[in-house]
Amino acid sequence: MEIMHVVFVLTILCFGLANGQIYDVLKFGAKGDGTTDDSEPKLSATQRPTQLHFQGCSNLQITGITSVNSPKNHISISNCKNVVITKIKLVAPDLSPNTDGVDISGSSNVNIFDTIIGTGDDCVAINTGSINIYITRMFCGPGHGISVGSLGRNGEESEVENVLVTDCTFNKTDNGARIKTWPNGKGYARNIAFKNINLIDTKNPIIINQNYIDKGRILDVEKSAVAISNVTFTDIHGTSQLDEIVKIDCSKVTYCKNIILDQIDITTVNGKKPIVECNNVYGKSSNGNEIDGCFMQQ
Ligand SMILES: *[C@@H]1O[C@H](CO)[C@@H](O)[C@H](O)[C@H]1NC(C)=O
Ligand SMILES: *[C@@H]1O[C@H](CO)[C@@H](O)[C@H](O)[C@H]1NC(C)=O
Repeated sequence: MEIMHVVFVLTILCFGLANGQIYDVLKFGAKGDGTTDDSEPKLSATQRPTQLHFQGCSNLQITGITSVNSPKNHISISNCKNVVITKIKLVAPDLSPNTDGVDISGSSNVNIFDTIIGTGDDCVAINTGSINIYITRMFCGPGHGISVGSLGRNGEESEVENVLVTDCTFNKTDNGARIKTWPNGKGYARNIAFKNINLIDTKNPIIINQNYIDKGRILDVEKSAVAISNVTFTDIHGTSQLDEIVKIDCSKVTYCKNIILDQIDITTVNGKKPIVECNNVYGKSSNGNEIDGCFMQQ
């Protein structure tokens, strides 16, 4: 089967352009012949560009493309409204740094469905200013799963709300359903649900990390945090590569509130008893004692 390689690098600015306009990347100077537009391969991570960057677009549709080995993240959607992304395939080796599939920030009403993403970083990263994000029927792997964040870096105020991820498969990913925030941020991440998620040898299937920092940074004393509330994990099933199937490590300043763990049916690959680790979490579970022990007494 022949696949179309998207090897050019492009920023599309949609300010002031009419709705329904079709952007043909070839009209933006790309040749699309598989070599001519390839980006400089020797650049460092911060210099490497995003493959396809959409800025300020309304009623954007991205359909039927395959992007292979983006120099950095494959697609970024920033400050856009009403976005549909469907039937795309994004591919990069599992050890390629920062090759996120789709990064979303400052955008609302983004629907992503029937997609295949396998890269060296997040399949989707949902960043600050994202509202009404719906992801369904994604096959993710390899990669780092679907992440909200990281939020609140350098004390920044971050807001993410109304995120629904359903009917997705994570195959051998480093994380499954993840929320990550830096210490000392502000704002909130709320009304987030992961439902009917199938795990194949996934590491960290369910993970909230409010002490997220880059390698080499020192963790400051925590004075504030991005407040996490109303997060549901329902019908999460399959196999975990590690014994720890749930890790919810929340801020001791804000706590995580109204966290629901329902129908969690995860076994470990090596047959060992699954481990659940929680800090500073309020919520409930239908799963009985093992997971109930995760929550603080109200
Ligand atoms: C999961 O990924 C592995 C490669 O890492 C692949 O061999 C396998 O077929 C995938 N599983 C499914 C169900 O696609
Ligand atoms: C909690 O989040 C769900 C979406 O996951 C939303 O439908 C519901 O209204 C939220 N509840 C509250 C109290 O905000």
